[in-house]
Amino acid sequence: MAETRVAYIEKNQEKFIRELSEWLAIPSISALGEHDEDVYAASEWVRNKLVFLGFSEVRTIPTNGHPLIYTEWMVDEQQPTVLIYGHYDVQPVDPVSDWDTPPFEPQVRDGNIYGRGTSDDKGQIMVVIGALEAWLKTEGKLPVNVKILLEGEEESGGAGIERFVERNPELLKADAVLICDTHMVSETQPSLVQGLRGILYTEIAVSGARTDLHSGSYGGVAPNPIHALCVLISRLKGEDGVINIPELHEALGRPAAEEKAFWDADPLNIAESLKDEMGVDALVGEEDYPPLERLGVRPTLEVHGIRGGFTGEGAKTVIPARALAKVSMRLPAELDPYEVFGWFEKAVQKNLPAGHEATAVNMHSGRGVSVKAENPFFKAATDSLAETYQNRPVLMREGGSIPIAALFDSVLQAPIILMGFGLPDDGAHAANEKFSLTQLRLGMLTVADYLQRIRR
Ligand code: BES
Ligand code: MN
Ligand code: MN
Repeated sequence: MAETRVAYIEKNQEKFIRELSEWLAIPSISALGEHDEDVYAASEWVRNKLVFLGFSEVRTIPTNGHPLIYTEWMVDEQQPTVLIYGHYDVQPVDPVSDWDTPPFEPQVRDGNIYGRGTSDDKGQIMVVIGALEAWLKTEGKLPVNVKILLEGEEESGGAGIERFVERNPELLKADAVLICDTHMVSETQPSLVQGLRGILYTEIAVSGARTDLHSGSYGGVAPNPIHALCVLISRLKGEDGVINIPELHEALGRPAAEEKAFWDADPLNIAESLKDEMGVDALVGEEDYPPLERLGVRPTLEVHGIRGGFTGEGAKTVIPARALAKVSMRLPAELDPYEVFGWFEKAVQKNLPAGHEATAVNMHSGRGVSVKAENPFFKAATDSLAETYQNRPVLMREGGSIPIAALFDSVLQAPIILMGFGLPDDGAHAANEKFSLTQLRLGMLTVADYLQRIRR
């Protein structure tokens, strides 16, 4: 890569870190209404940054939820157009007491920057911004046409971007979509994502008696919705990790032999690293499938929280009238989350203990995606990573979800390049989230190289 771009990126790391820190200090938690103005402020921050870079018309596009930021720089119609996607919203931070330093007071220590959104996804958007800036500040122009679409409700399942993408296929038309919102295997082993799982996020509400009851006067005859909910959940997924939804298993596809062999062999010994990352002695889940398959394509059913009854200080002898659980499923790309929700609802009714009533609500959902690797844009990503890291990237299936990726795939019909620079121990969504400063720098070098490589 031209020395000047490399030099620009190397020389300006402190400036990039300063700018990123400013952005990170804005608590853009999309899931919490009290942070609506912060989410907006974070959108303004990145809008201004793009304006300063020289993008001429940077639009703030309102949605029913948080705004989208859109801009484009068309340099030459002979050149390919890459659509860059990212999200400027972040996850909630509770329990705050688990953080070593406050989540919105970013801090650099031991080669990392700590704070909510460092890895997911502001730090990774900064990677792309740094690469674009290096091109603009040294060449005065971009090597290819660039469109940028950023959203502010990825972490809360907002549908604003979906409607926008569905209604604006012409505007967004691109030859490839670049998404930096995933992670690599390790800092020495780059990887490209071959597929993401879809998600179905539900709420199950169980009710019993008309009101809360005295557990002495009624215990022994009264329905208990919390207990019923626990029984229901344990019936939906047994101790063996097998999900008890028959239609689901009938609909699952078969993995390709080559991928299956990779999961079985686990040559990078990822199963072992997973234990370290989580701080556990053993992995749980479906015994019949190796960990990589369980993470990459197997469906999951997880309970995220249960609400009900008395959890205050001291003791209160009550039988609650209501209980609620947040339950999500991860789904391989071939499954339609809406169809799965129908099966899920049926399973809830079938497995609910007698004497109770339950309703299930589909809070949000998004399809998974399988990436096509046989195209020049994917190949260029492979080469850029190999060049920067001096190591060929491996192909990995990620268990996480980026709902809009599936829509890009179906609406734009362009290859999706999931080239993320997070690391497995970044602690995305958890306390003490961090992003490696080496990854920030190498990421910028990789993306700057990538833009050059896809030039015709
Ligand atoms: N960046 C993640 C998705 C991700 C995580 C990809 C790990 C690959 C590996 C994204 O921000 C995310 O957290 N998505 C949510 C989507 C949901 C809220 C609809 C997820 O996966 O839970
Ligand atoms: Mn993300
Ligand atoms: Mn996330």
